[in-house]
Amino acid sequence: MSTGSKMVFLEEGGGRSSLPAEPNVLLLVSGGIAAYKIPELVREFRREGAHVRCAMTESAKEFVSPLVLQTLSGEAVRISLLEPSEEGDIGHIDLADWADVVVVAPATANLMAKQALGIADDLVTTVLLATTAPIVLAPAMNVNMWENTSTIKNVKVLKERGVVFVGPEAGDLACGWQGMGRMSEASDIFRAAYGFHAPGSLKGERILVTAGGTREPIDPVRSLTNRSSGKMGYAVAKEAIRRGADVVLISAPTSLSAPEGVSLVAVETALEMRTAVKAEFEKSSALVMAAAVADFRPAVSETRKIKKEQVEGDTINLKLLRNPDILAEVSAIKNNRVVVGFAAESHNLVAAARKKIKSKGCDLLVANDISRSDAGFESDTNAVVFITPDGSIEELPLQTKQEVAGNILDRIKKLRLTR
Ligand code: CTP
Repeated sequence: MSTGSKMVFLEEGGGRSSLPAEPNVLLLVSGGIAAYKIPELVREFRREGAHVRCAMTESAKEFVSPLVLQTLSGEAVRISLLEPSEEGDIGHIDLADWADVVVVAPATANLMAKQALGIADDLVTTVLLATTAPIVLAPAMNVNMWENTSTIKNVKVLKERGVVFVGPEAGDLACGWQGMGRMSEASDIFRAAYGFHAPGSLKGERILVTAGGTREPIDPVRSLTNRSSGKMGYAVAKEAIRRGADVVLISAPTSLSAPEGVSLVAVETALEMRTAVKAEFEKSSALVMAAAVADFRPAVSETRKIKKEQVEGDTINLKLLRNPDILAEVSAIKNNRVVVGFAAESHNLVAAARKKIKSKGCDLLVANDISRSDAGFESDTNAVVFITPDGSIEELPLQTKQEVAGNILDRIKKLRLTR
C-alpha cells in the first residue's frame, strides 16, 4: 500500500487509514442484473485516479461483459480461481493484498451468505476471505430475498465485522417486484468507498449539535459557567453542512457566529438546552453533544441583583442543584440514532472516558485532555481519543478542530451505514 494521503477511509474495526492518492480498488462483481451499472462505477474510480482491478463470479459474466470491464479498468479481469494463466498474471492472494479497498457490487444474497460463513469456493469469495482491506458491499436482490431471515442474519454478521453497506434502495426491481433491493447508484457506492468526507456524503442526515458552555444564573448579572468556547461544536456543525447534512445547532452563549446554513437554537441554561435537545432529537439521525453542560445550577436564581449589604459577614453560601444529564437521557432513547458525547478530563483520560461512555450509554465518546495547552477549550487545535462502547480506543494526532470534526462525522457516517 502506498502512503499518499488524498482520501481517508475507515478500516474494519473502526480504525482509520489514509487511502493513497492513487488507491488500488478491487471491484468484485457477483451475478445480478444490477451488474450493468458496474462499468460506470469503474469509470468513477478511474476519473478520481484510482487503479481498478475487477474480478467476477462465473454468473456475473452473464450480466456484464468482462471485456467491457477490462477495457475500462485497463487490467485483465479475473474470474477463475484455478486458471493457471490468470494466476500467473496476479495470484489470488496477491490480488487480496494489492487492494486498498474492496468493493463488492452487486452483492447477491448468495455471495453475502458465503461471505458470512467464510466459504471460499471461487475466486471472489476466496479473495474476500483473504483480504485485510476495508470491504464495502452494495447489495442488490429481490425484496423477499433481502427481507428473508437468512439474509437479515448474514447482513448482521457482516456489519458486526465492520463491513460497510451501501444500500440497497427501495424502488422498482428488475424482477417486477417493488421494494428494497435496488443496488445503489454508482456515485453513492463510489462515495462510500472513496470519500466519507466528500461534499454531499451526509446528504439526507439531520444532525443535531450542541455547543458552548451553559450559563446558570445566580441573579440578573451573575452566573455560573465554564471555559468552553464553543469552537468544537461549531466546527462539527460547519463540517456537517459542508457534507450536505441538515444541521440544527443548539448553542449556549459563545462569541462565534453560526456557520452559514445551520438552523440555530440559542439557549442559556442546561434546562433550556435539555428542552431544545428533546424537541429536536426525534427528528434527527445523530446528536453530537459538544456543549459543556453545567452539572449544577443555583437552587434559586434571584430576580434582583444581590447587593453586598444583603450578605452577612464575608461569606456567601450558594446552594446548587444537580442538572439532568442530557447525554445520558437521550442515549437511553436513541434507537438507531447515533449519539456522540465528549469527555473533558484533566487526568487518567482513557480510564475516565471508558467509565464515562458506560454511564452515558452513547455510541462514541470523544475524550480530550484539558491539561494540555494545545488542546481543548479556547484552542483551535485538539488532541482527542475516540472511545467506543466496547472500550476500544483510537488516539488521533493533534489536529485542527475542523479536522477532528471531520473524523467525528466519518464515524457517524459509518455507524449510520451499519444500522
Ligand atoms: N453532559 C450532558 N449533561 C450534563 C453534563 C454533561 O449532556 N448535565 C454531556 C456533555 O455535553 C458531554 C458529556 O456529557 O458530551 C460529558 O461531559 P463531562 O463534563 O466531561 O462529564 P460529566 O458527565 O459532567 O462528568 P464529570 O464532570 O464528573 O467528569
